[in-house]
Amino acid sequence: MKRSPGTGSAKTSAYTSEALQPSVPDDTIIRPHAETAYAHELAALAATDDRPRPASWRLSPWAVVTYLLGGKAGETVIEPKYYGQRRLIEIAVATLATDRALLLLGVPGTAKTWVSEHLAAAISGDSTLLVQGTAGMNEENLRYGWNYARLLAEGPSEKALVPSPVMNALRDGKIVRVEELTRIPADVQDSLITLLSEKTLPVPELSTEVQARRGFNLIATSNDRDKGVNELSAALRRRFNTVVLPLPDSLDEEVTIVQNRVAALGKSLELPPEAAPLREIQRLVTVFRELRSGKTEDGREKIKSPTATLSTAEAISVIHQGQSLAVHFGDGELRAHDLAAGLSGAIIKRPGYGCRRLAGIPGDRGEKTGWLAGFVPGL
Ligand SMILES: Nc1ncnc2c1ncn2[C@@H]1O[C@H](COP(=O)(O)OP(=O)(O)O)[C@@H](O)[C@H]1O
Ligand SMILES: [Mg+2]
Repeated sequence: MKRSPGTGSAKTSAYTSEALQPSVPDDTIIRPHAETAYAHELAALAATDDRPRPASWRLSPWAVVTYLLGGKAGETVIEPKYYGQRRLIEIAVATLATDRALLLLGVPGTAKTWVSEHLAAAISGDSTLLVQGTAGMNEENLRYGWNYARLLAEGPSEKALVPSPVMNALRDGKIVRVEELTRIPADVQDSLITLLSEKTLPVPELSTEVQARRGFNLIATSNDRDKGVNELSAALRRRFNTVVLPLPDSLDEEVTIVQNRVAALGKSLELPPEAAPLREIQRLVTVFRELRSGKTEDGREKIKSPTATLSTAEAISVIHQGQSLAVHFGDGELRAHDLAAGLSGAIIKRPGYGCRRLAGIPGDRGEKTGWLAGFVPGL
């Protein structure tokens, strides 16, 4: 609930989100949730959507796909959020309409988290039910915990129970997201099995259970590279449909993604649009793709790939950092030396590593020295 400053109720408990999040004007929030940032698109889609909606869904599966991939809802333009194969998103959305959960798999920076947030926003109107998977996690984080002060004072009761986001999603018929599922220790992961197959979460301490309402489902994301750390047990894997999000196919596609995300980020930081010229974005994405594939785009030269992940997400942040340098310390236009500063952070994570290789990347006119030479310190 939003309130104007100064109208906060005195009765608000110290633990409610309203108390933790004082009533500030919305535009001071650094990153509003998807359902807030795109509220107008979601409302337009809901108003024009005449296809059947699964129980508790805010939109039909078709409209959810339109929300993710872009299109029109009446007069309202729906911005594309994900660039990639339509079929992948259709499979993901169709899965969520069944009783199987969705696992988004891919290398870092392939928009797994991004897609899951938007799916939850479009389907449940709420992308905040989120569990971040870590190696130190225990079952309480996936099921429920206790407010120990209350538990000791009053014994087990519903009031003393602290529900996890998973429990809240079950009870409210919403989508819950579990980030980095395979980082969670295997025995803790297994506590999801009953939940996903029986659609209920027993609370033996209170001799009760929370049964899933329609609309409940789970989206897990997992990093390809974490595989083997705590690989999913076969039993759990059977409860999921897996959709692999790939790295962008072509240079053009990747440039479009970076361009769009950079423009959106620039807008939120009030950077002028000329702060990220297409030419520099193309150069940077080319460098990333060449380093990733280990050869130049024309296939003529071999390059040693660095160990750092060179995802689209990283390219976005390098441009973004360069923009900030150009705007605050340059003449406002992003130039190679602004990019180089970010690049050395993203690629050359160890001093000295890869500098010579980078210097060997051909520049605009194919010159051997490379456009970065002279910009990266120590090159
Ligand atoms: N195909 C894509 N379409 C749109 N955005 C993308 C794409 N690939 C990467 N991104 C951008 O990369 C950023 C990071 O993605 P993220 O979801 O955090 O990656 P992951 O969770 O897979 O590691 C997001 O801001 C997203 O906009
Ligand atoms: Mg992620």
